[in-house]
Amino acid sequence: MSSHSGKQNVTVNTLQRMKAKGQKFAALAAYDALFAELISNAGVEVILVGDSLGMVLQGHDSTLPVTLDHMVYHMNCIRRGNRGAMIMADLPFMTYASEGQSLESAALLMRAGAHMVKLEGGAWLAESTRLLSERGIPVCAHMGLTPQSINRIGGFRVQGRDPEQAHTIIEEALLLQEAGAAVLLLECVPVNLGKEITEKLEIPVIGIGAGPHTDGQIMVMHDMLGITPPAIKPPKFIKNFLPESDNGIPGAFKAYADAVHEGRFPGPEHCFN
Ligand code: KIV
Repeated sequence: MSSHSGKQNVTVNTLQRMKAKGQKFAALAAYDALFAELISNAGVEVILVGDSLGMVLQGHDSTLPVTLDHMVYHMNCIRRGNRGAMIMADLPFMTYASEGQSLESAALLMRAGAHMVKLEGGAWLAESTRLLSERGIPVCAHMGLTPQSINRIGGFRVQGRDPEQAHTIIEEALLLQEAGAAVLLLECVPVNLGKEITEKLEIPVIGIGAGPHTDGQIMVMHDMLGITPPAIKPPKFIKNFLPESDNGIPGAFKAYADAVHEGRFPGPEHCFN
């Protein structure tokens, strides 16, 4: 496990080494400086400035209204509070629709302090992924359930249940790895698919609702504190860590990081079969 002390000491190489050694890493989506400090001090390796802020902070029913300006603002907040975690930032809806646009959008987030950008999608992102990584911008590919495509998918539901769709997700994940993606984030897929992709890929795989076999786990910070917005039905894959904390909110972050590092989270009750 890493110990953070006021500088970025978790890098993509750290995650790669942890994968090679079979060590699990923890990630949380968060949006402000104070929580960034508490989360990084708790030993969580990755902070995601997620476009989930559209639903959690802004009260929208999807992530689509989030803009690049919103992301840059929250990116700056997280950067100021962070004590050594790797910071990943979402490119929001329609800010990477073309290759040129993805370069310009990613550059803004990197200038604000991101260490990696996350893009939702599959094969169609191969060229942007290649361009970004060749120009020094590490990319996390987000596959499985991709909330920015909610209107096409038709709802927040498990992806890759039928064999054909599972095969496509595997093939496209391999393609994005080949294009230069440094990390894959896999959302809401059955346990077996999460396991197969994690084993097939050389790059670290972070899961949310993707079972216990992925190299890392991520959750939205508010979900793991038991404060999911009332309009949202709490998904099966979340767990409230506050009840097992011996030190309020900082203790809950530590309890989450420990549970992930020790392979105790997620349990079978948080997974899709
Ligand atoms: O935006 C976000 O917080 C995310 C996580 C749910 C993985 O993408």
